[in-house]
Amino acid sequence: MAVVDSHSYAVLEQGQIKHVNLDIAVELAARLMRIRADYQLDHPVDGPLHLDSSGQAITKIYSRSHPIEWKMDAAEPIVGQRLRLMDLRGAQDFTIEFTTSPEASALQWLEPVQTAGGQHPFVYSQCQAIHARSLFPCQDSPGVRFTYEARVRVPNHLRAVMAAAPLGVEHEGDQDVYSFRMPQPIPAYLFAIAAGDLRFKEIGPRTGIYAEPSMLEAAAWEFEENERKIIEAEKLFGPYLWDRYDLLILPPSFPYGGMENPRLTFLTPTAVTGDRSTTTLISHELAHSWTGNLVTNATWDDFWLNEGWTSYAEARISEIVEGDEIARMTCIINHDLLKEDIQEYGWESPHTCLKDSLKGLNPDLMVSNVPYHKGRLFLTRLEQAVGRGAFDPFIHRYIATHQFGSLTTEGFVEFLRKELPAAVEKVDIETWIYQPGLPADCPVFTSKLYDDLMARIAAYAGGVLPAREEARNWHYVQKRMFLRLLPAKIPVEDCRKLEEIFGIEPGGNLRVVYEFYRLAIRSGYKEALPGIEEWVGRVGRHAFLTPLFRGMTETDWTRRLARPMFESVRPRHHPITVAAVEDVLKGAGV
Ligand code: BES
Ligand code: ZN
Repeated sequence: MAVVDSHSYAVLEQGQIKHVNLDIAVELAARLMRIRADYQLDHPVDGPLHLDSSGQAITKIYSRSHPIEWKMDAAEPIVGQRLRLMDLRGAQDFTIEFTTSPEASALQWLEPVQTAGGQHPFVYSQCQAIHARSLFPCQDSPGVRFTYEARVRVPNHLRAVMAAAPLGVEHEGDQDVYSFRMPQPIPAYLFAIAAGDLRFKEIGPRTGIYAEPSMLEAAAWEFEENERKIIEAEKLFGPYLWDRYDLLILPPSFPYGGMENPRLTFLTPTAVTGDRSTTTLISHELAHSWTGNLVTNATWDDFWLNEGWTSYAEARISEIVEGDEIARMTCIINHDLLKEDIQEYGWESPHTCLKDSLKGLNPDLMVSNVPYHKGRLFLTRLEQAVGRGAFDPFIHRYIATHQFGSLTTEGFVEFLRKELPAAVEKVDIETWIYQPGLPADCPVFTSKLYDDLMARIAAYAGGVLPAREEARNWHYVQKRMFLRLLPAKIPVEDCRKLEEIFGIEPGGNLRVVYEFYRLAIRSGYKEALPGIEEWVGRVGRHAFLTPLFRGMTETDWTRRLARPMFESVRPRHHPITVAAVEDVLKGAGV
């Protein structure tokens, strides 16, 4: 059955892009990239070719010096513009010369003050889910893969990086030209580029860090264990096929915790905490090297195949790296967060099904715990049905069979039926995938650490708070869980004490600080306000900012503060984050 991707104009029967050669001049003052892109198709094409694009100013399109007639359709709000190459007349390659729009949704252009160093501008891309089309016209559907080469011209005080192999740099007056090659075929959403005042430090045989100079040493220490994680992940999934695993530490406005750009995970600076407590974030992005980057969801309706598998892997790696107790407590928290999201959508909502239908919707705004954690629970259920002795070899076969390919949910089920029939007999696959809410046989996790915390909560009801010396030494997962387990509203005096006990500061562990501020808002603890104001300015991750603002709209004393507070930090944030918060504020009528 032909795969239908409702978020792309590409018609795969017309021909598929296999390789792109890009010549990119980064013009920071004008906030645009001037690009010449040479495309190679899988076969000579007679007739039209439709590409996804968004906002580019095209100067010309030609094939071996013969002009190609083209037409750009009007922009649709979410999917952008269809670019029609009217007739390729048997050509197998063609060239497009264009500039990106200063509003290109894939790019964020930062002023020096928005960076760690404060001296130089910075630009970075975020293409997932459907922003690659605003960078260069392409078949922006996760089912299409291509390799690429690129030459990137930047002013010589900046360094360019890409999620590709760096080949070297040539100096040309006050400009530097960096060359890259991506030998492994990728879907467009994994195309990634950045430029800024960046340095590199090697931390292992195939791992290293790119960061602004002031962040480099701290980040190198924080992520020293990356090689060990690759080794663990290889045991679970098979060999790491992307050669290197480097990290790029971005400025604070990066809208995600991490983005699994192949060979070069893009990472929030909030992950550099000085205590290696954000290790699950790396486990997650690294795991995408297999689940997502090697085996890719065919459409955004199958997003759970990327994120559910990756969350499952993240939990398996966490078991080894952080131990069983912490891993299980994290599963309990994530189950809670999942239930909150299901509640928010409604238990009968189609968006609580693993296989979703996002036609006409912006996939960025549909990222919830459903694909991540309902997906993870489904895979855990399958694992429990047959035991790891059978499930682990299945994982290897799953990856090896589909590597460098894409898969629909239906393709996954077919593979499951064939390769793991015992699981299909025991688990109601149809309900798990196509029904809303949570199935009755949903795995439940227990943990001794969790029980200990429940005892603390009982003690709190009797008036006893944890001792400062002890609580400060808790794992951040314990702190986070304790704050979640407290009653929704507590006396202001207790908020004040907890702030001191846990040493809450806007720059502290994001998940702990977030839970505290949510509690402070619900409890009417007004002294937290300056901290919250600072926090919403320095944290760019929309997965935290959005629910915090939602919390503000749901509480009387903060409701009228939400809009002005957001407006004061809006210019600092990424358009993805701005859109997500805006969606929540408008939805709440503020
Ligand atoms: N690929 C996602 C980020 C993403 C999802 C970008 C959808 C665009 C659209 C990444 O792997 C991710 O899941 N990041 C999480 C962190 C993770 C530990 C749950 C995030 O940023 O919060
Ligand atoms: Zn992910």
